Amino acid sequence: MTQEELFKKLIAHSKEYGFVFPSSEIYDGLSAVYDYGQNGVELKNNIKRYWWESMTRLHENIVGIDAAIFMHPTTWVASGHVGAFNDPLIDNKDSKKRYRADVLIEDWIQKQEDKINKEVEKARKRFGDSFNEELYRQTNPRVTEITAKKDEVNHRMVEALQQNNLPEIKKIIEDCEIACPISGTRNWTEVRQFNLMFETKLGSVSDEANTIYLRPETAQGIFVNYLNVQKTGRMKIPFGIAQIGKAFRNEIVARQFIFRMREFEQMEMQFFVRPGEEMKWYEYWKEKRMSWHRTMGFGDDKYRFHKHEKLAHYANAASDIEFEFPFGFKEVEGIHSRTDFDLSNHQKHSGKKLQYFDPETGESYVPYVIETSIGLDRTFLLVLSAAYHEEKITKEDGSTDERVVLKIPPALAPVKLAIFPLLKKDGLPEMARKIMDDLKFDFACQYEEKDTIGKRYRRHDAIGTPFCITIDHQTLEDETVTIRYRDTMEQERVPASRLREIMTEKVSITNLLKQI
Ligand code: GAP
Repeated sequence: MTQEELFKKLIAHSKEYGFVFPSSEIYDGLSAVYDYGQNGVELKNNIKRYWWESMTRLHENIVGIDAAIFMHPTTWVASGHVGAFNDPLIDNKDSKKRYRADVLIEDWIQKQEDKINKEVEKARKRFGDSFNEELYRQTNPRVTEITAKKDEVNHRMVEALQQNNLPEIKKIIEDCEIACPISGTRNWTEVRQFNLMFETKLGSVSDEANTIYLRPETAQGIFVNYLNVQKTGRMKIPFGIAQIGKAFRNEIVARQFIFRMREFEQMEMQFFVRPGEEMKWYEYWKEKRMSWHRTMGFGDDKYRFHKHEKLAHYANAASDIEFEFPFGFKEVEGIHSRTDFDLSNHQKHSGKKLQYFDPETGESYVPYVIETSIGLDRTFLLVLSAAYHEEKITKEDGSTDERVVLKIPPALAPVKLAIFPLLKKDGLPEMARKIMDDLKFDFACQYEEKDTIGKRYRRHDAIGTPFCITIDHQTLEDETVTIRYRDTMEQERVPASRLREIMTEKVSITNLLKQI
């Protein structure tokens, strides 16, 4: 199965099993907007809890807030979003389709890389064991020609974007003879800047003064509350403020399912430090955040850091944590050293002092900030794509079958326990209900009595339920039950009275938190 096929299957599976639905689907959906279903919302809430507790419980000096989505419009002038939160866009006059100009060029570069890889694979087959890939890439005339052209285009694009040189971006599109994938023509408009913030009006009178924005990041809600939290919480530097909430961006190119959405959720933490100590904390948070990811157990080789060589004007260091999605390594989280850019600008635009008096040094200063910013929906996609497995299995009667199983870490799984009476008679349902009534206060349980046990297992494998408990006639005699383990499919007979203790051990988020 190719990675593309896997991704398609994952999207279909998410819908079929109540994880993610297209928004307002009965009206044919809304582009790049999604709803979370009955299992999706549980998984999402568990990821949130894992993040929230790793921040606010494991660090005495981090507290949380929940700021409003609407903020005073000057916030976004101070943060730089009104002036510079733009993407270059271009329209095709024939298809009337709109594209991000830089993405068109990036796709062209990707095509050249695919061409090179094809040549390399052909040569590998031709030369067999004696093939020296590095030498071939350096010397084959066709490969070196494509590589040089691709590198030159990449260089021109980076420079043009940095200098905001929109005519040059258009020229690159023309020089590369990039055509619209829909109309096939090269009939392009000029390249224009497009601000990604959604605007709306506050109040009933529609005039310019009432224009406000849906926040494009949650971070600014933290910055404008810096002093409130510092004073009321008597926080001493270094300290952090964490927040989980919705953010909105009018993405021109929204694709790859919930990877790039127009309405999404962020989990952000701003860590306020003494100026000059930011690099120490930047390294600390890079390591901590990578450890949080790896603790989910999907394999350390699935993650890597991507260091930003070209920094935003307010940052003095920045790295992304990338995960290997079915469509390649992509960013899930950013760790940025943002200097005092945000607080200083809010100080300037609001006229309010946003300083900290440091009792240890006797100085007042605007704190520096290390930001950790992770997309909740992207983490959700990470968990689903790493957990999705198709397996061949041998049944008890020797025949083979296939199963789709989501190997979600038990602490994050939407349903922890499925409880099955073997038959719908002989007092087994009543016994099963009694066990469920006892456990439901501590764990997300589901009761199921329809279909064979095998079919019930398959349904719960497909939503990632880590443990299925079966109640049979022996349960009525000695109060023991069988636990069936999702990943190994092994079964174990245990006293029903031990279920709470066994499950607490296996599904508690505390176990994950202790390993970070
Ligand atoms: N406050 C910093 C900030 O917002 P960002 O790199 O623009 O930085 C941080 O966003 C994270 O938010 C990303 O790493 C990604 O996981 C998530 N994110 C950004 N745009 C997104 C979108 N359109 N859809 C889904 N997630 C997105």
